[in-house]
Amino acid sequence: MIDKIESLKAEISSAVAPDAEAVERFRIKYLGKKGEIALLMNDFRSVPAESKREMGQRLNELKTLAALRLAALREALAAGAEAEAADIDLTRTATPLPLGTRHPLSLVKKEIIDIFAAMGFTIAEGPEIEDDWHVFSSLNFPPDHPARDMQDTFFIARDPSDILLRTHTSSVQTRVMESTAPPIRIVCPGRVYRNEAISARAHCFFHQVEGLYIDRNVSFADLRQVLLQFAREMFGPETKIRLRPSYFPFTEPSAEMDISCNICGGKGCGFCKHTGWVEILGCGMVDPNVLRSCGIDPDIYSGYAFGMGVERITNLKYRVSDLRLFSENDVRFLREFESAK
Ligand code: PHE
Repeated sequence: MIDKIESLKAEISSAVAPDAEAVERFRIKYLGKKGEIALLMNDFRSVPAESKREMGQRLNELKTLAALRLAALREALAAGAEAEAADIDLTRTATPLPLGTRHPLSLVKKEIIDIFAAMGFTIAEGPEIEDDWHVFSSLNFPPDHPARDMQDTFFIARDPSDILLRTHTSSVQTRVMESTAPPIRIVCPGRVYRNEAISARAHCFFHQVEGLYIDRNVSFADLRQVLLQFAREMFGPETKIRLRPSYFPFTEPSAEMDISCNICGGKGCGFCKHTGWVEILGCGMVDPNVLRSCGIDPDIYSGYAFGMGVERITNLKYRVSDLRLFSENDVRFLREFESAK
């Protein structure tokens, strides 16, 4: 009898039922009124009293096993039917999940940073909510400078000292100069805010990457060479640069840099207003007053700084005609950058 029970156990455990009829056959064969288990129950009566306990236990196990197997076979059948009803092909591979793409501004920001990183610059970041000192006063802005005016700056609090949204990431340069001894060689990427009416050409926030290099004997020629290298890497090896005198409170001398128009190659077209040049950034030698206010001795150290708008560079590279597209999250626009690196 033990052998019989064991062989039935093996049979039941490996039983399969491809359709409803097979499941029913399984039920009748093992659990039916005249099934294998019922037969064994009959035999059980003639088992000698001293073996009844053990045999009873084994029989019960067999019965439970058969009942569980039956339930499992029924379940498998139902799942299969459901899949079939829904026309699901369980053998088909899954469709890939749609992945997002990098935002064009992130792409270009990364490109800018990578170029400067290759020249030894490290990344520094700082808060978007700033105080007057880091955005203006430390950077040699006279008290009545128009950039401090309500028209340009979003003020959060005016008393006792001004708290505002930074209008440029030069504030990060101040923070690093205050806390780090030269040499300093950093780029400061980040979002900046200006109180302007939103249009195709202006927005109340945009993104910048600014750079700062402070060391002994840093010259304007060093600045020019670094910017030339940047322009060539960003816009192609034939790109030319031109520096025009300009004014920023925190640099002296100051300049604005143009690159040869990358659309017409400098011949003149609608994009460059037939000048052959397009402006891409501001730069200059850090004003000694700025170094002094950040605790750096201008008799020992000198340095240069530059700053550019990421939207502007993106516009030049990818011809985005309306600034508002960058913040509307229209997937049709964003997908156009799928193939960009
Ligand atoms: N901070 C300037 C701006 O916001 C850019 C700049 C940076 C100019 C460094 C010169 C030197 O426009």
